[in-house]
Amino acid sequence: MTDTDRIAWAVTGSGHYLKECLALAGQLPKVDLFLSNAAAEVLQVYGHPVKQLKERFRIFRDSAASAPPVGLFYEGVYKLLVVAPATSNSVAKMVCGISDTLITNVYAQAGKCRVPSIVFACDVAPEMETEAPGGMVRVYPRKIDLDNTEHLRDFKYTRVVTDLDELHDALTISEPWRNTCCS
Ligand SMILES: Cc1cc2nc3c(=O)[nH]c(=O)nc-3n(C[C@H](O)[C@H](O)[C@H](O)COP(=O)(O)O)c2cc1C
Repeated sequence: MTDTDRIAWAVTGSGHYLKECLALAGQLPKVDLFLSNAAAEVLQVYGHPVKQLKERFRIFRDSAASAPPVGLFYEGVYKLLVVAPATSNSVAKMVCGISDTLITNVYAQAGKCRVPSIVFACDVAPEMETEAPGGMVRVYPRKIDLDNTEHLRDFKYTRVVTDLDELHDALTISEPWRNTCCS
């Protein structure tokens, strides 16, 4: 890996496999975290305050309207964007081409720079178990949430994954995003 071989890992405000996603990010070399404002709050709730994460990762917060860190994609710093976990809110914006948060901006700019993205969407089945702050709960994603996840699959340079194993494989098996999502 060279200095331009970094991974941008975007975290949104989702508790769904949040701890597991962070653990996976922590196993990879040269990962920078990009946090939505909701992510910064939710991370605190799940016992991962941003201050603590700064000891392990370089962190970009959503602190400016124009999302200045997207410039790093234009400089070729990142070979891959991972959005994990991805809230229904961020997925909906990404599908509509809206870039009004740090996370939706990095997704849009990654696409414009032909940097592949892996998106771990939260809403993948009509009925799911997910981790709330107080423990596991059953949720029922709406049709619009499920449709948005499906629509994202059609985006170029994007690979949508729906569970942790798939995310793990996408990250570790001989860099498959180079072949599978850039056609
Ligand atoms: C504790 C907690 C857990 C949450 N988990 C989820 C989740 O699993 N999926 C989801 O779509 N939204 C979840 N939310 C709601 C999002 O944080 C909220 O929609 C937020 O506006 C998303 O902003 P973002 O997409 O910019 O990160 C959660 C909120 C809280 C407070």
